[in-house]
Amino acid sequence: MEASELQQIYDDAVFRALEARTLGELRVVESETLGKRSPLSALHQRLGSLAPDERRDAGRTLNETRARIEGIFARRLGELEVEERRRQLNDERLDLTEVLRGPERGHLHLVTQTRDALEDVFVGMGFGVAEGPEVETDWYNFEALNIPPAHPARSLWDTLYLKWGEPESTLLRTHTSPVQIRVMQSQGPPIYSVMPGRCYRQETSDARHLAVFHQIEGLVVDHGITFGHLAGTIEAFTNAYFGAKIHSRLRPSYYPFTEPSADFEVGCIFCDGAGCRVCSHTGWIELGGCGMVHPNVFGAVGIDAEEWTGFAFGFGIDRLAMIRHDFDDLRYLLTNDVRFLRQF
Ligand code: DAH
Repeated sequence: MEASELQQIYDDAVFRALEARTLGELRVVESETLGKRSPLSALHQRLGSLAPDERRDAGRTLNETRARIEGIFARRLGELEVEERRRQLNDERLDLTEVLRGPERGHLHLVTQTRDALEDVFVGMGFGVAEGPEVETDWYNFEALNIPPAHPARSLWDTLYLKWGEPESTLLRTHTSPVQIRVMQSQGPPIYSVMPGRCYRQETSDARHLAVFHQIEGLVVDHGITFGHLAGTIEAFTNAYFGAKIHSRLRPSYYPFTEPSADFEVGCIFCDGAGCRVCSHTGWIELGGCGMVHPNVFGAVGIDAEEWTGFAFGFGIDRLAMIRHDFDDLRYLLTNDVRFLRQF
């Protein structure tokens, strides 16, 4: 019996025992290595043909080798049992802390978020919030705002009229300014109020115009209110909403319900006033209109223009959201594409 033959059997046994990945595999290897038909057993059988003293030595070596191989298998068995147990625990694991997640929840629309943020800013400045109806009469939307029936300024607003009552007597409000009239009627001065809401115009939608859009109106009426208060309020709002670095400016303009009137602009938040695509290289972005409440408007609601003065302003919420979040088409706000909406 060659020593190298035994060594070969031992090496094979070690190698195959390590290779066995499961208890089942190990059992197969074990019976092939130590079983009746194994090369080791064949060597045992050959012992009988040896001379007695030779047989004793060979028998001892053979038994020693078998014992070592059995030791190897015992150790590997222990390892595999541990592994098997670990695998089983892992497979059968129940995560009792796991939360069942249903379908993804939605969130407030960007326009609503913007409106809420604007309300927060103005409430922080001491304003109240008021609302008015979307269906208005000609009187609230135009006449009380110093826009008489034949006034050329009516063409500033492309109005959608309803078939209700006299022709052109009932309409979808073209701006939030009629809510000023309602607030003055219902609460009287002093007034510090913002009035957000949906407006309508007969307009073909494009990147910068929507037929259904949102405005926020502001109205202050008190003793001794001046144009300085208007400018200061616009500046304070601009700083609060866009950050202290962004300033505002007023430019002369015309609205029938204010005198003097102005358009207000804010410094471009994208280029800090240097000039870029968004601000058409002017450094300024126009936001809305404003001015000192016209005496005829006070007259329409019975407020004494000798005693009280006030200012008003109004601007588009959708457009503000577009500027703030730098998207380039207002129509995204209406198409309900979740890839757009999810970003906000
Ligand atoms: N209502 C105007 C518009 O829709 C915006 C506006 C301008 C509102 C001047 C005001 C204001 O209160 O004083 O274009």
